[in-house]
Amino acid sequence: MNEDVLERLAAHRLVPVVVLDDAKDADPLARALVEGGLPVAEVTFRTAAAAEAIRAMADRGDVLVGAGTVLTAAQVDQAVAAGAHYIVSPGTSRAVVERAQEHGVLALPGAVTATEVQAALELGLSTVKFFPAGTSGGARAISALAAPFGGVRFVPTGGVGVPNLGEYLALPCVAAVGGSWMVPRDRVGAGDFEGVRALVADAVALAVSLRPGLVSIPG
Ligand code: 3PG
Repeated sequence: MNEDVLERLAAHRLVPVVVLDDAKDADPLARALVEGGLPVAEVTFRTAAAAEAIRAMADRGDVLVGAGTVLTAAQVDQAVAAGAHYIVSPGTSRAVVERAQEHGVLALPGAVTATEVQAALELGLSTVKFFPAGTSGGARAISALAAPFGGVRFVPTGGVGVPNLGEYLALPCVAAVGGSWMVPRDRVGAGDFEGVRALVADAVALAVSLRPGLVSIPG
């Protein structure tokens, strides 16, 4: 099941990182994501609305819902009870990863150094969130880490947007790229779901155009 979640993330290649101030926005946001062609969301535990928003999205049945910014084992319990399909944390926390594993739910902890990647490997994981990507060396740092950690896949997030998405998606070790640029908090808060749908659709089109297999080779 966890492999299935990872494969779905890798198939979509993009993970919208969502901060919801009001759980009532969860359903229309989920609709905008689905209609924009990206039925994935990482709903962050940065607001009190997180658990209710995760439940609203997961109950729809058409969105792969992760819980983000999960800092404690208690939040893992809340996220899983709300229906989260996977758990994301900004750093590699043994307590968070082990609680997710007890629930049988995929954990995607943050790791940006060789020591942190090894810690994740020791917890039985082979995919990590590379966070915050932009200030941790970006695509060059991921490339350097991929040399010793051949089987590890990364989900760079933090400081990624339209101008630099391609640098990350070009790396074979990058499973997917996360970011908030296609789901801006202010637009969601203002109820501009058509605007969000358009941003999501643009992001999907960009990711597809950057797919290495689609680069046309002359002749
Ligand atoms: C995260 O939690 O993953 C980041 O805050 C998203 O970073 P971004 O807002 O720079 O995309």
